[in-house]
Formats: sequence, structure tokens, C-alpha cells
Amino acid sequence: MCGIVGSINHNNIVPDLLAGLSNIEYRGYDSAGIAVIDNDGLTTIKRPGKLEQLKQELANQALRSHTGIGHTRWATHGCPNEANAHPHSNDDVSVVHNGIIENYLQLRQWLTAEGFRFQSDTDTEVIPHLISLFLEQGQAPQQALNTALQHLEGAFAIGVLFRKEQDHLYAARRGSPLVLGQSDQGLCLGSDTMALAPGIDRILYLDEGEQACMTRDSFQLLDLNGRAIKRDMQAYTSQQDDQSKQNHKFYMHKEIHQQSDTVRNTFKHTQHLLPELPVDFTRLDRINIIACGTSHYAAMVAKYWFEQIARIPVDIDVASEFRYRSPLLSRNGLSIFISQSGETADTLAALRYTKALGQKTLSIVNVAQSTIARESDFSLQTQAGPEIGVASTKAFTAQLAILASLAIHAADRCKAIQIQESNRLLMEIAALPSLIDMTLELEPHFQLIGESIKDSHNAFFIGRGSNFPLALEGALKLKEISYLHAEGFGAGELKHGPIALIESGVPVFVIAPNDGLLEKTLSNMEEVMARGGRCIVLGDHHSCGNLPLEVESITLPACDKVFAPIIYAIALQLIAYHAALAIGTDVDQPRNLAKSVTVE
Ligand code: F6R
Repeated sequence: MCGIVGSINHNNIVPDLLAGLSNIEYRGYDSAGIAVIDNDGLTTIKRPGKLEQLKQELANQALRSHTGIGHTRWATHGCPNEANAHPHSNDDVSVVHNGIIENYLQLRQWLTAEGFRFQSDTDTEVIPHLISLFLEQGQAPQQALNTALQHLEGAFAIGVLFRKEQDHLYAARRGSPLVLGQSDQGLCLGSDTMALAPGIDRILYLDEGEQACMTRDSFQLLDLNGRAIKRDMQAYTSQQDDQSKQNHKFYMHKEIHQQSDTVRNTFKHTQHLLPELPVDFTRLDRINIIACGTSHYAAMVAKYWFEQIARIPVDIDVASEFRYRSPLLSRNGLSIFISQSGETADTLAALRYTKALGQKTLSIVNVAQSTIARESDFSLQTQAGPEIGVASTKAFTAQLAILASLAIHAADRCKAIQIQESNRLLMEIAALPSLIDMTLELEPHFQLIGESIKDSHNAFFIGRGSNFPLALEGALKLKEISYLHAEGFGAGELKHGPIALIESGVPVFVIAPNDGLLEKTLSNMEEVMARGGRCIVLGDHHSCGNLPLEVESITLPACDKVFAPIIYAIALQLIAYHAALAIGTDVDQPRNLAKSVTVE
């Protein structure tokens, strides 16, 4: 989703702005731009499409400056064209903005009546004009910004330049994250740490409602009411090394192949932290798990684990729906929020809603300093490292590694299982990385299958038990990166409607480990085959051993049935990846999608 960069330092900041924008391309965007300030005033250059278009334009210009802002836009209000791209500038003020200004229509009417002319369809453009209005009324820049902020409703993060203040860069945050960075060269601004200029060694996250005014050597923080507050930067070591694709064509492929390490590291890290987790599972009578998209599917898998292993009832919610159903939360309950980015607007809103109701909150995030991590009572961090591909892969299996460990820990504390069983399950989790490696070695088989479905109009995924959410995840992965239409179903649900879609040759992926539900899953497979569907079974040697000859199958390594979703996820990711590769889509930045969904 939209990304912000900003820089003020002793050197030319244009290369830093472009490096920051390159680093946040992964968030998903459809236009990009920068604005800089120098003796001639504000210069704004923006282009629709990929960052490359902007870079080409800048290559033709000798643009140099010590102070600037930049943005990658993911369209919300107004189509992705040059006029709607950020920064939005008038003669005196330039603004980049993440989030949504909910009262922009009223503000636009007011500002139009005041004589301001709008060039774009965006909500953002009201911000520079509003600030200019207060400048015209004689307010100093900082005060004009502060007054303008009082008029804005909604969630936002902004970076602001003033023509008359070459040596200042301003920022404000309400609802959307912003981080400041500092090096010996100067200061910078980003919507996440990846946007920050190279070489920074200190960072500071703005808290809700805060503003910052930066010069080349220092910064000042202000609270919601414009009063100065004091907080120091924290030491920071950049993870720039993790950002290369190494020998992979796409980040997604690299990230799929990192999963034995990321699951291993996450499991070890979690085991280390769980004894200190201040949650008394023996007193819990219900757990709510709330998340979006792939993280929501991780929650669905975890429901099986918590209920079957720890015998604790679990409710699962899609975050965007959660608070609108006026949920009845148990007084002795725990709410768990899962989010790779830790910034998803709906998940964050659900967290705040839950906290306001007095419920204990635990988050599982991949970004330690994210808003969801900071605002929840406790947080466990997946050790997946930066996930650049928009489609979540390694973060999903790392979330599952935490949730599995947590379910076993809860079962232990509640004495729902014997110690021998809990040790056995922990050993099974510890063995998962080598099973993941064995699954990755099957890539040529997944590739053949993936390539074979590239011309299909529809694809279906079916599974039972904890592999039902995996069927949903397999379908989501395929549709988001290949743009093929795909749906996942509980295998037993097919005949209640979706079977009408089965026709000759339509691919149906049957997730079928030997898990006690295998016979029933295979009966559902027969129903598909009887209608001409092309069944592709993903199973182990037991399930694949006795299939009818005409059924295609890939034999995955045998694993404990409880943790099969972690292994089968790898197969589904690789099938989706190779289908997308064969179709020729932009696997890492699929159309219309954003990595960090910071609007509701
Ligand atoms: C799918 C995907 C999305 C995210 C969802 C939640 O591959 O990545 O469905 O899972 O947008 O994002 P987080 O986990 O950052 O809250």
C-alpha cells in the first residue's frame, strides 16, 4: 500500500529518496513521485506506473536538494494517473500522505470556496491547501501544520515540505505508522524502516498523534496539542542484506525456499519466550483469534490446534467484520491478533476495540516495532525476516509455528495432554524444517503441475479438518499471483453447491495427508472425478499409494497429521508460483494488491 519516504541531510537527498522508494516497492503501488525544495522553490515530479518511469524522468534532470519527500501511491480516491500521484503540492507546501482523510469532501468544498483550485481527485490534496490557508492567515509553518491537523478526520501519516523552510522536514502521524531515522549525514522519514535512507543507525517510531520537525542534525517531537515532548532514538541495525533476491527470479521464490530456516528460528525463539508469557491458560475460558487474509487462514488452522490439543474453545474472526458484529467477549478470554506487517488497519482497529472492552491481547507479528506489536499487551514475533513478495509465504508458516507451539504450551499448562504427548508434539515441530526441505526438493513436480494449469479458467482446492483452511490458502495464493479464478472448500461441502462448477478437465487439488479423514476426502475426490474433474492429490505415501491410475498425485514426505498444514502449505505455494511464472505475471507485485493494508 502507499509508502512514504523523506530525507534531510548534508548531501544531495535525491538518490536516498529513490533508494527508499525502491525498497518499499514491495508494498504494492501504482504511481510514484518526489518533491524537493531548493532556492528555486518546490519541485514536484511524479509518474504513473512503476518507479522505473519516475527514475527515467529524473535521469533527464539534474535535480539536487538537501530536503525532500517521496511516495508510492496505491490508489484509493481517484485512478492511478499523474495528477493523483503524490506528492501533492501548491506554491508553498508539498505533502505525501498514507491513509484516508474521511472528511475530505467537506474540506474540499470549504477550500474551493476560499479560492483553492484542485488538480486531482484525491483526498490528500486538501492537506497542502489547508496548510496554505493557515499560512495565508499569518501562521508560521509549524503552527499552520498543527492547525490543519486539527481539521483532518481519518487515519493518516504525512510528510510535509514548506517552500520557505529549506532546512526543515515535517511529519505527523494519526493511525498510520511513521518512523524517523538518523545517521551522521542527517535525518530521514519512512512509512517503515525499509523506506529509510541507507546507513541510518538510530530510529524512532512516532506515537499516535505525534508530529516531528526535522533539521539536518536534530529533530523535535510534538504531541497532539503541539506541545514539545522528549524521546530519544533507539539504536538500529539495518537488515539491508536480506533484501537481495540472491539467485532467485522473484522474492516470493526466495521466501518459499527460506522456510526451513524461518520455521526453525521461529520455533526456537517461541520456545524460549513461552515460559515467560504472562497468560494464565488455566483461567482462560475462550480464545478469539482475529486477522485478515492469509493470517486469518493461520488463525483457522490454529482453532483446530487449540481445541484439539489444549481443549480451549476458539472463535475466529475476519478483522474487517469483527467489531461490527458486537462480539460477546468472555471476561476470562484472550484475544490473539495475527498480522505479518503488524500494520493492517482492520486488525489494528479490532485490537483497539478489544482492548477498550478490557480483554487481554496477544499479537503475533513479523515486524517487532509495528503498531499492532506495540499496542497489544504481549507480542510474539515470527522470525521470518522481511517478507518482500506481496503474497505471504514464509510469514504464514512462521505464524503456524508460533501457534502450534502456543497450543502445546496451553495444553501443558491446562494439563490437557500428558507430558509425553507434549514432548512428542514438540519433537514433531522440531522435525518440520527437514520435512520442509524434502518438500522443497519436489519443486520440479510442483512446477509441472503449476505450468499445466496455466490455461485453466477455474481451479479448486479441497481439504478437511485443519487442511480445510489450507485449501482456502491454496486458492488465495493461486488467484492473487496468477489471476486464475480459484476457490477453496471443505471437501465435504463441495456437493452442497460448488460441485456445479466441476466440468471436464477443471483442476481440483485434493489436500489429502493420512490424517484420519483421508477416506472421506478421497470419496469427495471420487465425486469430482465422476463429473470429469481433473484431480491432483497432494498426499503422503499412504494416501498416494492406492489411488486410481488416472489420478495425478505428488507424494509429500510423511509428517505428523497435526502439523501437515505447514508442509502442505509449501506445496501449494510452489504450485501457485509456477502457474504464475508460466502465465508471466509480476509475481512479487501482483496487480491491485498491497503488502501492508493500512486502510479499512
Ligand atoms: C495473502 C496476503 C494477505 C495478508 C493480509 C493480512 O498472501 O498476504 O492476505 O495476509 O493482507 O496482512 P497482515 O498479515 O500483514 O495483517
